[in-house]
Amino acid sequence: MNWDATDAGADADAGADAGDRLVGASADGEDQAVEAALRPKSLSEFVGQERVREQLDLVLRAALARGATSDHVLLSGAPGLGKTTLAMIVAAEMGAPIRITSGPAIQHAGDLAAILSSLQEGEVLFLDEIHRMSRPAEEMLYMAMEDFRVDVIVGKGPGATAIPLELPPFTLVGATTRAGLLPPPLRDRFGFTGHMEFYASGELERVLHRSAQLLDVEIDAEGAAEIAGRSRGTPRIANRLLRRVRDYAQVKGDGFVNREVAAAALGVYEVDERGLDRLDRAVLHALLKLFSGGPVGLSTLAVAVGEERETVEEVAEPFLVREGLLARTPRGRVATPAAWAHLGLTAPRHAPGASGQEGLFGA
Ligand SMILES: Nc1ncnc2c1ncn2[C@@H]1O[C@H](COP(=O)(O)OP(=O)(O)O)[C@@H](O)[C@H]1O
Ligand SMILES: [Mg+2]
Repeated sequence: MNWDATDAGADADAGADAGDRLVGASADGEDQAVEAALRPKSLSEFVGQERVREQLDLVLRAALARGATSDHVLLSGAPGLGKTTLAMIVAAEMGAPIRITSGPAIQHAGDLAAILSSLQEGEVLFLDEIHRMSRPAEEMLYMAMEDFRVDVIVGKGPGATAIPLELPPFTLVGATTRAGLLPPPLRDRFGFTGHMEFYASGELERVLHRSAQLLDVEIDAEGAAEIAGRSRGTPRIANRLLRRVRDYAQVKGDGFVNREVAAAALGVYEVDERGLDRLDRAVLHALLKLFSGGPVGLSTLAVAVGEERETVEEVAEPFLVREGLLARTPRGRVATPAAWAHLGLTAPRHAPGASGQEGLFGA
């Protein structure tokens, strides 16, 4: 398996998610092929994200009632949480066509001008990874969003002239994994911002039941719960694990997915009960066994697991931190008490994760 962090897919922080990782959150080739079939087509089919869904529902209904295009919508959240899906739902709910492009695809302001000037009235323009657009394109977008107008520059140097071009009203849906990277003038031009959260286990179970039905996989409640618990709060990962479990169930059993089958299948793929994979566990294991729980420097930890520094920092650590298994402190990486428990090890008395030392992690 290749953990090279540069082996990136199209996602914004694909650098932080080696594409061939079973528990990686960015979409690989197989995902892209199946995802279209698994995407909910309406707000009512979209599982979870209650707040975003309710707010968006109001925005869209109000626009429909006014007979106007909707305000521009910004969706922010980690990869695999449903941003692209929601963008398509916005168009579907408005009964409007959708044009899909992404920040990195727009190198020059002219690329954006070409897209904007060919939009139909009411069309939804989905701009994925909007934080990766070039500065000149961004500035053109400000005006387009606010005034439905762009200035097309013709010619070069002192003879260049700006020709104003009217645009039909359209709805921009922007998606970003890094809302913090958006310049405030751009952020301010969105009438609605939806912050997508990681999904609770029960919500992922609903996603799984729905996907299983579409993929014609028989699964019971416990089977779905088993997969959900290993899916890192992310529907894309849940759907991917479901496909691997289905393969196992077909080859080793009669195709039916229950708790036993799901656990055995994901054991084969080395995804543990908490969704950690081999790399995550190697990092934790080194931290606990070689460095007694830390603190240890990132470079030393990376050498110990035979990986690049960036791989450990960007691929393994974010989830370990999110799960409360590892802490980044000024003195280095430190294991939490939960890390010892998760690997079934007992912390030595002086270890940062040992009982009586929890103070290290603050209150
Ligand atoms: N709320 C949801 N309900 C059901 N399926 C979902 C939901 N959110 C995401 N998915 C599924 O997860 C996959 C990834 O979603 P996507 O919209 O591509 O994520 P993002 O664009 O945020 O990376 C898709 O196959 C989609 O069907
Ligand atoms: Mg997407």
